[in-house]
Amino acid sequence: MRAIRCNQYGPPERLTVETLSDLEPKAGEVVIDVKAASVNFPDVLIIENKYQMKPPLPFTPGSEAAGVVRAVGDGVRDFRVGQRVVAFTGSGAFAEQAVAPASACVPLPDDADFAVAAAFTLAYGTSHHAVVDRAQLKAGETMLVLGAAGGVGLAAVEIGKALGARVIAAASTDEKLATCVEHGADATINYSREDLRERIKALTDGKGPDVIYDPVGGIYSEPAFRSIGWRGRYLVVGFANGEIPKLPLNLTLLKGASIVGVFWGDYARREPQNNVAGFEQMLGWMKAGKLRPHISARYALEDTPRALRDMAERRVIGKIVITP
Ligand SMILES: NC(=O)c1ccc[n+]([C@@H]2O[C@H](COP(=O)([O-])OP(=O)(O)OC[C@H]3O[C@@H](n4cnc5c(N)ncnc54)[C@H](OP(=O)(O)O)[C@@H]3O)[C@@H](O)[C@H]2O)c1
Repeated sequence: MRAIRCNQYGPPERLTVETLSDLEPKAGEVVIDVKAASVNFPDVLIIENKYQMKPPLPFTPGSEAAGVVRAVGDGVRDFRVGQRVVAFTGSGAFAEQAVAPASACVPLPDDADFAVAAAFTLAYGTSHHAVVDRAQLKAGETMLVLGAAGGVGLAAVEIGKALGARVIAAASTDEKLATCVEHGADATINYSREDLRERIKALTDGKGPDVIYDPVGGIYSEPAFRSIGWRGRYLVVGFANGEIPKLPLNLTLLKGASIVGVFWGDYARREPQNNVAGFEQMLGWMKAGKLRPHISARYALEDTPRALRDMAERRVIGKIVITP
């Protein structure tokens, strides 16, 4: 089977396509014929050895995949060969075959779209944990989402709307913002040509947002945090802009505001029942048409470096998938 391999840390162009032996499941594992694997920003960081999770070299990147069960290991009772599943693999998803513990697999209905299934878990899991659990966003409150057209950002926009909040989407291009409006955003800020603080002030009657969702960091965080409302909750989700910002703590005091960390991977490990309950709520929203994962591009396996380059250079809208 063919797989993308990271033999040395570095930019996407150093990845290679290699032919490896077919995967064999160990006890408790499931091997999947991958139909779609979604690309997440951490994939860009992991291959450059800039992420907290550091798989030993050589490895196959890619953390989530949907496909058809090819083989099951001893003791696996809940899955059978030929069944459609989505799996959080951690790594190894950018390949024709991937392996995951049965506990990390979820069965899919026969008519499930593999790309949508592969694009759901990490982006929506992160944003549900952030917005619902950590920020406790309420109907009628206002949430500002930075990087709102990205994978986790667009999920946050939809989740905010599903909760009955007002959502302000901030992104770097008008095309990205148009997608945010299609997915429910009530107002927009183009932070590459508009003054972030002035626009937040104008759009919130000077009060500031109740919740700010920040997967971007860098130059946007301090002006956004200075604009937060009374008792505001500032969600620290990621640093796609590169820099981990430093915030003056007096700003929290002046607004009675909280800085709230978000780490979905550890939340899912430490609080699996709460995580599953979150997904159950989201499946209900999905059936009601409130969540609509946006797949903007599909890449062949050998084009994985180009997919990762597009993500690193800010060209992606919503989610992109690899289709081996
Ligand atoms: N805390 C957690 O549990 C968790 C889970 C998943 C992901 N994350 C983090 O969340 C962040 C977003 O992940 P994602 O998969 O949603 O990525 P993504 O789809 O690429 O979205 C990131 C957004 O950041 C913005 N951005 C600003 N400066 C950028 C730059 N220099 N390079 C790239 N993007 C830039 C882009 O929007 P504009 O062009 O509109 O600015 C882009 O849409 C990442 O930092 C990731 O590590 C955290």
